[in-house]
Amino acid sequence: MLQQGQTIWLTGLPSSGKTTTALALTAALRANGQTVECLDGDELRRAIGKDLGFSREDRMENIRRAVYLCQLLNRNGVTTIVAMIAPYTEMREYARANLKQYVEVFVQCPLEECIRRDVKGLYKLAVAGEIPSFTGISDVYEQPESPEITIRTDLSDIEINVANIMKEISISPIEV
Ligand SMILES: Nc1ncnc2c1ncn2[C@@H]1O[C@H](COP(=O)(O)OP(=O)(O)OP(=O)(O)O)[C@@H](O)[C@H]1O
Ligand SMILES: [Mg+2]
Repeated sequence: MLQQGQTIWLTGLPSSGKTTTALALTAALRANGQTVECLDGDELRRAIGKDLGFSREDRMENIRRAVYLCQLLNRNGVTTIVAMIAPYTEMREYARANLKQYVEVFVQCPLEECIRRDVKGLYKLAVAGEIPSFTGISDVYEQPESPEITIRTDLSDIEINVANIMKEISISPIEV
């Protein structure tokens, strides 16, 4: 019988380390023989989100599309690693309510460190007032209240965080 895939959702501020952790986790799970797909927020917007901006409504629609893809993949036995900011509690509640096996990973990193990293140079623009709804500066990031896992990317290295996530997700497989 085909085993239902899980969705491992990495949420956190821009530059907190979602993509970096998601890619390392995907590689580690594949090395373990699992069928895994990675959905990255940037790629998703490029592929099927060109019509969406960063209003609350558009961000929510972006999440709905991602959750739909997770449903398709999960029901075919594919574990899906999502790297999307998902800044509002409502979004994570939507994902949790609509996915059979949802594991929320809070990728925690102090805002000051994210600003220091500024991988895409967007914090600089946001701080200068040039991006009207940039998460962490000009738009809210509502911290997850009860994530299954919290990792600290300013304190622990990637390998340790990946190992901790893998320990957590190996539990409670269900059959469909
Ligand atoms: N322990 C760590 N885990 C993850 N990333 C780390 C860690 N330590 C340092 N970094 C660095 O932090 C940066 C995180 O960037 P990354 O693109 O993964 O962030 P992101 O959360 O995907 O941001 P965005 O929301 O803008 O896509 C990378 O340059 C990475 O090398
Ligand atoms: Mg990213």
